[in-house]
Amino acid sequence: AIVKSAEFIKSSSKESECPAAGFPEFALVGRSNVGKSSLINSLVRRKELAQTSKKPGKTQLINHFLINNKWYLVDLPGYGFAKAPTAIRTDWNEFTKDYFLKRETLVCVFLLVDSSIEPQQIDLDCIDWLGRKKIPITVVFTKCDRKKKKKNGGRKPEENIKDFLDRLKPMFADTPPWIMTSSETNQGREELLRHIAQLRIL
Ligand code: GTP
Ligand code: MG
Repeated sequence: AIVKSAEFIKSSSKESECPAAGFPEFALVGRSNVGKSSLINSLVRRKELAQTSKKPGKTQLINHFLINNKWYLVDLPGYGFAKAPTAIRTDWNEFTKDYFLKRETLVCVFLLVDSSIEPQQIDLDCIDWLGRKKIPITVVFTKCDRKKKKKNGGRKPEENIKDFLDRLKPMFADTPPWIMTSSETNQGREELLRHIAQLRIL
């Protein structure tokens, strides 16, 4: 799987403003700061195609990136960012839910989960919602390069991932596909690109 070209197309504030349908697309969602924009940059091997920040709440719009002139990667705003103004917080539900439900070319949602912290209810709630709406998801664990830290309860990424997958079991007959990644080391990059290639054939 090779990324030959990657091009920013447009930022949209609602589903109806998104680029004309035509290419299959894959959307990245997850808590603010989980590493959505960084993962896009890692996948396309460009440092600053998608804007990243140490401060949560950087991405505020639906951003379409066209890959190989054939498919879109879509960077979405994060959820669960308590410090964002209330208006932005309620909007996450409105405009991203609208996007998930209406965007016909959406092939799969990549639900990003921070592997350096223990399972978060808000991530489980989001997966549950997507599952109920029959939207295909792949769980992408981020920050797998992080060593276990006291402040994270002294747990390794592998332990957090196992706990998270255990929490998913009651929600699905079959556990959704999942991948371990790191935008620092590019771990999982090839696997995720192969996964996308496979999904596009379906
Ligand atoms: P919002 O746009 O605010 O929703 O955040 P985001 O999910 O797009 O996160 P972003 O990619 O901006 O990354 C947030 C912070 O996490 C940055 O400081 C990144 O450098 C860091 N980060 C992202 N991915 C990784 C990773 O794989 N490993 C490590 N160690 N840090 C990462
Ligand atoms: Mg972002």
